[in-house]
Amino acid sequence: MTLGSCEIFEVGPRDGLQNEAREIPVAEKIALVNKLSEAGFSRIECASFVSPKWVPQMAGSGEALAGISRKDGVRYAALTPNMRGYTDAVAARADEIAIFASASEGFSQKNINASIAESLERFAPILEEARHIDLPVRGYVSCVVECPYDGAVSPSAVAEVADKLFAMGCYEVSLGDTIGAGTPDSIARMLLAVRDVVPVGRLAGHYHDTNGRAMANIDASLSLGVRVFDAAVGGLGGCPYAPGASGNVATEAVASHLAALGYDTGLDLDVITQAADMARAMRGGAGFTA
Ligand code: HMG
Ligand code: MG
Repeated sequence: MTLGSCEIFEVGPRDGLQNEAREIPVAEKIALVNKLSEAGFSRIECASFVSPKWVPQMAGSGEALAGISRKDGVRYAALTPNMRGYTDAVAARADEIAIFASASEGFSQKNINASIAESLERFAPILEEARHIDLPVRGYVSCVVECPYDGAVSPSAVAEVADKLFAMGCYEVSLGDTIGAGTPDSIARMLLAVRDVVPVGRLAGHYHDTNGRAMANIDASLSLGVRVFDAAVGGLGGCPYAPGASGNVATEAVASHLAALGYDTGLDLDVITQAADMARAMRGGAGFTA
C-alpha cells in the first residue's frame, strides 16, 4: 500500500558543499551530481552564483554546471542572490533558480547584507526576467523557527515572507529551519500559519539536523500535508552565515524513512547509498578520484 508520492529535493551539492572547509575540486562536485542524477531525483540543487568572497566553495559553480552530464527529466538548480547571479546562472544553463530570503532581519543582514525588504526588492527583477524565459524560480525562507542572531521567529513573520515570495511568482517556497532549532510543535505552528497564505502543495520543508530532530519535523510536516523535503546526501552541509548550522537532514535517511512509511519517492536507494559514500568521503577531506 502506498500513501502517495513524496519528493526529495536534493540539495547536497549546494547546501552541503557550500560549508565544507576543504576546497573541493570541481571534478568531485561533478562526479557527485552525476551519481545523484542516476538516483531518480527530479531536482538537484548543484550551484550557487553568489559572491566568491562570501562563499568561496561555490566559486566553481559555472564550471560544475558545464561539466555535469545532464539527464533528461532532471532539473539542475542554482541559487541567485541578485541580478548578477541570475545572469550567470542563465549563462550556465541552470534549469531553475532559487532566491533566498529570511524571516528574521539579523540573518538577512548577515547572509545577504540586506534587510528583508531590501532583499525582496532585489529579487523582484530576477522574477521578472525569469518569467520572460519561463525559468522556474523557487523561494527560500530561512530561520523559520529561530535565528542565530535574533532568537525566536514568529510563525506570522515566516508567513509574511512566504506569502510575498509566492505572490512574486515563486512556484514553491522552501521553509528553512536553518539551525535545526525546530521541534514538531514549533514546526507545526509555523506551517499552520504559512499554509493559510501559500497552498500546502507549494511548500517544501528544508530542515537542518543540528539537534537530531529533522526527521520528527518531517513527520509533523507530513501530517500537515507537506510532500516535498529538501535533503543532502551524507547529511552534508550547513550555512556559513548561521553559526551552529550543521548538515541538512540526510537524503538516505529520509528516503528510507518515507519508503518505510509507505510513500513513493521514485528513488533508487542503492544509488543514493553510493552517493552518500561519495559525499562522506568529500566531507572527510579524503576526497576521491572523480
Ligand atoms: P555585498 O558585499 O553587499 O554586495 O554582498 P556587493 O554588490 O557590494 O558585492 C561585493 C562583491 O561581490 C563585489 O566584488 C561584487 O562584484 C561581487 P568586488 O567589486 O568587491 O570585487 N558580487 C558577486 N560575485 C559573483 N556573483 C554574484 C555577485 N554579487 C556581487 N552574484 C551578496 C551581497 C548578496 C552578493 C553577498 O552577500 C552574497 O553573495 N551572499 C550569499 C551568502 C550565501 O550564499 N549564503 C548561503 C546560502 S543561503 C543558505 O544556505 C540557506 C538555505 O539553505 C535555506 C536555509 O537553510 O535556511 C537556502
Ligand atoms: Mg540550508
